[in-house]
Amino acid sequence: MAKLVRISLSLEESLLEQLASMQGKDGYENRSEYIRDLIRSQIARREWISGEEVVGTLSLIYNHHQRGLAGKLIDLQHHSSVHVLASTHVHLSHEICAEMIMIRGCGSEIEKLAASLKRLKGVLKAELTAGSMGRAFR
Ligand code: NI
Repeated sequence: MAKLVRISLSLEESLLEQLASMQGKDGYENRSEYIRDLIRSQIARREWISGEEVVGTLSLIYNHHQRGLAGKLIDLQHHSSVHVLASTHVHLSHEICAEMIMIRGCGSEIEKLAASLKRLKGVLKAELTAGSMGRAFR
């Protein structure tokens, strides 16, 4: 466990009120833990845009009855410069499928692949979650 250090900081009262409001909405009881997570989130965002290798998760909802869609989804993943680490497919109904795809590579290339999958006819929803390799948290 990393050694904790105590700091003090100054900020405008209105900013502190906004912080408290955000903390409440996000369901954090401990302000220090909330601020640590805000910092970690900013570190992860910078990691994502730095060009370093990161991981992301793409969640797709699509209609597998759309002609040629399943093949196009696979082809685009094979021809991308990023690495698909794993994918999970769930049949939600007779025609609707959900797929969660974990991707490793440069953030901008992951976004490019996600956008190309999202544009396909029959893809009803595509949501990319930016992850982190956790380098900065060690
Ligand atoms: Ni399915």
